Amino acid sequence: MKEMNNPKWVPQLLAWYDVNKRDLPWRDCGDPYKVWVSEVMSQQTRIEAMKPYYDNWMRLFPTLEDLAKATEDEVVHAWQGLGYYSRARNLRLGVQDVVHNYGGVVPHNRKDMESLKGVGSYTAGAVLSMAYGEPEVAVDGNVLRIYARLYGIFDDILSTKGKKMITAIVEDTLPHDRPGDFNQALMDFGSAVCIPKTPRCGECPIVNTCHAYQHNVTDQLPVRIKKIKVVDVPVFVGILSYGDYYLLHKRPNRGLLRSMWEFPSVENADSYDAAESGLTELVGTFGFELSLQPVIVKELTHVFSHRKWFMKAFRGDLQYTGDHTSIETIQTQLPKDWMLIKREEFADYAWAGPHGKLTELCPIVE
Ligand code: ADE
Repeated sequence: MKEMNNPKWVPQLLAWYDVNKRDLPWRDCGDPYKVWVSEVMSQQTRIEAMKPYYDNWMRLFPTLEDLAKATEDEVVHAWQGLGYYSRARNLRLGVQDVVHNYGGVVPHNRKDMESLKGVGSYTAGAVLSMAYGEPEVAVDGNVLRIYARLYGIFDDILSTKGKKMITAIVEDTLPHDRPGDFNQALMDFGSAVCIPKTPRCGECPIVNTCHAYQHNVTDQLPVRIKKIKVVDVPVFVGILSYGDYYLLHKRPNRGLLRSMWEFPSVENADSYDAAESGLTELVGTFGFELSLQPVIVKELTHVFSHRKWFMKAFRGDLQYTGDHTSIETIQTQLPKDWMLIKREEFADYAWAGPHGKLTELCPIVE
């Protein structure tokens, strides 16, 4: 990894670290196992909160070999309270890999380190730099935030492009004589000074070289564009016929696919039986009995901006339970957002997205 001519802020940050560094049991011990455990534990947990767990862990499993020999139950038990138990399971598996395949020595290079279970690029960089003094960066959310501010980077720090761009600068600015201290200086600086919401610029030792501070844009950096979470929704659809007519529903005039027509549907049912009762109850309110055929006639998925419909369509027949009456009378008795129409009239209506595709199934040729 090449080293850039050290920018002025790097020695300033290291000097700040020398005075303000936190006293943590895995620091300056040169033990990659201790660093590894501390890094996995401190993901999603504040350092102060994880310290007692770390101390207890080291009493129970003081070496790689002790952890490798422990059962999964013992390991998960010692992790209790930290959450995200797969981290503990993976840590044990990664350590077993080192004991069995690397002669009990945590690898000295990024490639082997990252091949261990649960070890990503951040953890590999942290262990290699802090325990072995290897010139490796450890880029996490703190580092992305600090560099976005320092260098005035307006790319989304959650995007691949933003992360790549910042990682390249971190690599260029990493001082090869003190990589472990530098990475930890960034960690302490990120949790004490260059904090997420309102950075403490009044206490910052490197404001003179900070783009965000100099240009008065600390409130705009870093840029984080939250990805919209797409929720999976199972949708059971009934293609329900009453003679030559099909029962349709107009969606509400707000929200997804507003005011468009669809086949009667049940969202989020967890089984066919639940969906069948949902549809039966629905049509029951209009005086119909339903015999639904438990055979999927079509499966569709449809992705919206923040929902994904997993649709399963079934065919069913409706019987009217009221007094024998004409189709016109039944139609007039339906609520205004429901209708019975013939196949030939389908083209006159606006269909709710993927429901339009289901019209191809009407009439279903058996
Ligand atoms: N956060 C994660 N690892 C850390 C470390 N080694 N020092 C300070 N904060 C941290």
